Amino acid sequence: MRRVTVRKSSIHGRGVFALRAIPAGQRILEYRGEVTSWRLAAARYRRTGIAGHTFIFGLVDGRVIDGSVGGNSARWLNHSCQPNCEAIEDERGRVFIETIRAVMPGDELFIAYGLSIDEEMTPDLAAAFACRCGKRRCTGSMLTSTGG
Ligand SMILES: C[S@@+](CC[C@H](N)C(=O)[O-])C[C@H]1O[C@@H](n2cnc3c(N)ncnc32)[C@H](O)[C@@H]1O
Ligand SMILES: [Zn+2]
Repeated sequence: MRRVTVRKSSIHGRGVFALRAIPAGQRILEYRGEVTSWRLAAARYRRTGIAGHTFIFGLVDGRVIDGSVGGNSARWLNHSCQPNCEAIEDERGRVFIETIRAVMPGDELFIAYGLSIDEEMTPDLAAAFACRCGKRRCTGSMLTSTGG
């Protein structure tokens, strides 16, 4: 039985939703996609992307998983400042999405993106990365750090 589905989200575009109650500590999905260098993935997004909107997941070794190529449902996970899931990278560079709290049927699943950018913050960048998770402790941004 499928535990999650992808459908329209009130936060942004599409999101991943629970179809059934899922306890904390369950592995839900693998974050699949093309494993490539940050440089190549960034170049791809400069050509085709919208600022602040990517399917890139950064790995510990500096490479990335680009969910836009060969990706699965995990690429639709939205960000929340108080997420109910986390992404865990194993020793082989595979990334799994696991619940960190119990979720109910119909709940949207979220991870904290932990995004950072090297550039100096501008109003355009701040708008591109604005968070609309609506949680009580929302920081207002999907970014955790910026270049200045
Ligand atoms: C990996 S996609 C997630 C799927 C996305 N909802 C979609 O339909 O394409 C990441 C993008 O979703 C949007 N997003 C995710 N979480 C958000 C949030 N909490 N507030 C605002 N936008 C969000 C941002 O545009 C972000 O770059
Ligand atoms: Zn937020």
